[in-house]
Amino acid sequence: MRLDKFLANAGVGSRKEVKALLKKRCVTVNGQLVKDSSVHVDEMNDSITVNGNPIHYQKYTYIMLHKPSGVISATEDKQDKTVIELLSHDLQKFKPFPVGRLDKDTEGLLILTNDGQLAHELLSPKKHVTKTYFAKIKGEVTEADCMAFANGVTLEDGYRTKPATLRILKQGAQSEVEIMITEGKYHQIKRMFRAVDKQVAYLKRTTMGKLHLDKALKKGEYRQLRVEEVKLLQDS
Ligand code: URA
Repeated sequence: MRLDKFLANAGVGSRKEVKALLKKRCVTVNGQLVKDSSVHVDEMNDSITVNGNPIHYQKYTYIMLHKPSGVISATEDKQDKTVIELLSHDLQKFKPFPVGRLDKDTEGLLILTNDGQLAHELLSPKKHVTKTYFAKIKGEVTEADCMAFANGVTLEDGYRTKPATLRILKQGAQSEVEIMITEGKYHQIKRMFRAVDKQVAYLKRTTMGKLHLDKALKKGEYRQLRVEEVKLLQDS
């Protein structure tokens, strides 16, 4: 595998950042300083360091995507463009899949990985991983709505939601709110607002567990997670 690819896959940084590190003479392979990103390494047996720190081969790929509206959270679809199609062919080769779903019109943080175990843990209802959303709501959101969400609301199918934190950021004919939930039912936030007679006009996920959407990522942009960010997810 090429050295720059190995380092990028290991979460050291983007290909561009990796190239800069190589140029700055920060990388060694088996004790030798290497500046050429096209050098090939044996990812299982070579000893590779960046700034003196050993870098281990990462079995799995983890990607943070700023999902735009209009694409669906699936690996394939006959009609719509999927989030996978936003990724480079290099990354698609790792066969990542989205961890959970955001609606077609929802934007924001979406994790893609080929680590089935981590995905399972993040989505497990037993784990109660907190997800934060920013939303614009048609109608005036009130303290009564915050209380209702804190107590759990009953959806149209009779399901009573777990306590959620609703914070009003802007009140008016169109309100702005932040909402934190620990479950992931189908259309959950839209249905929760429907339960209090309001409608979601815009929805964006900003956190998943301890991981925040990187503000530097524009809609449709993505990057691989750094090693410490994968740890944050694992600890979520
Ligand atoms: N809740 C929703 O209603 N939609 C999403 O995409 C995510 C949470």
